[in-house]
Amino acid sequence: MRRRIMAANWKMYKTAEQTTSFFEQFIPLLDPNEACRIVICPPALSIPAAVSAASGTQIRIGGQNCYWGKEGAFTGEISAEMLRAAGATWVILGHSERRQHFHETDSDVLKKTQAALDAGLSPIVCIGEKPDEHKAGKTNDVIVRQFAAGVAGLTEEQFAKVCIAYEPIWAIGTGNVATPEIASAAHKLIRCEAEKRFGAEAAQQLRILYGGSVKPDNIKGLMREPELDGVLVGGASLDAHSFAAIVKSA
Ligand code: 13P
Repeated sequence: MRRRIMAANWKMYKTAEQTTSFFEQFIPLLDPNEACRIVICPPALSIPAAVSAASGTQIRIGGQNCYWGKEGAFTGEISAEMLRAAGATWVILGHSERRQHFHETDSDVLKKTQAALDAGLSPIVCIGEKPDEHKAGKTNDVIVRQFAAGVAGLTEEQFAKVCIAYEPIWAIGTGNVATPEIASAAHKLIRCEAEKRFGAEAAQQLRILYGGSVKPDNIKGLMREPELDGVLVGGASLDAHSFAAIVKSA
C-alpha cells in the first residue's frame, strides 16, 4: 500500500509572516494520526518560517525549484543543498509554470532531480500536457516523451526516491479539474512507462500525484481512484481550512 501524499504548492504567495499565521490556523485542524504525508512548499524566503512552524508535526516542507549546481556564480539561483540547509526535505521540480515562463527543459529537470537527490531532498517531478496537446489527443505522447526525456534518465536507486505529479496544464488554475477517469488513465500510463524502464516492483512503489484545480468539493471523487497516490494543490492550499479539508480526504 502506497502512502498518500497531500502536497501544497503555494507558488509566489505568502510572506514569512503570512506563512506563520497559516500554520497557526492549519495545525489545529489536523488529526495527529493522519495517515498521509503532508508536504507544504512555500516560496523560498518563507521556508524557514514554515520549517519552524511545522517542527514537531507530521508536516514536511519543500522548495518549489532548485538549481543543479552546488554553489557558484549563478545569480538569483538557490541550490538543493541550500534548501536542505534551510530545513526543506522535499522539492517540486519541472512545474509547468517553470517550463513555460522560465524555459526549463526536460534535461534541466533531470539535472535538477539528480542534484536534489544528491542533497537528500525528495523530488516531486511534474509532467503534463498543454491545452492544445490535450485537444489534439496527444496527452499520451506528451507523457511518454516527458517521462523518457526526464525521469527515465535516473538510476534505479534514484528513481525509487522520486514522486511524479501529473499536472495537465489545461487544469491548472482554471477550475477545470480532470475527471477522476482522465487522471487515472494518465497515471496508469505513467506507471506503465515506469514499469518498462525500472521494472514492475519499482513501478508499483512509485507515487503519482494529480494536480490541477483540486478543491475540497472535488477531492473525494479523485481519491476514490486507487491510481491516485495524492494531490499537488495550488490555489486551494493557500487557505488553512480548505487545505485541511483536502488532507482529510486522503
Ligand atoms: P491549482 O490547484 O491552483 O490549479 O494549481 C495546481 C498546481 O499548479 C499545483 O502545482
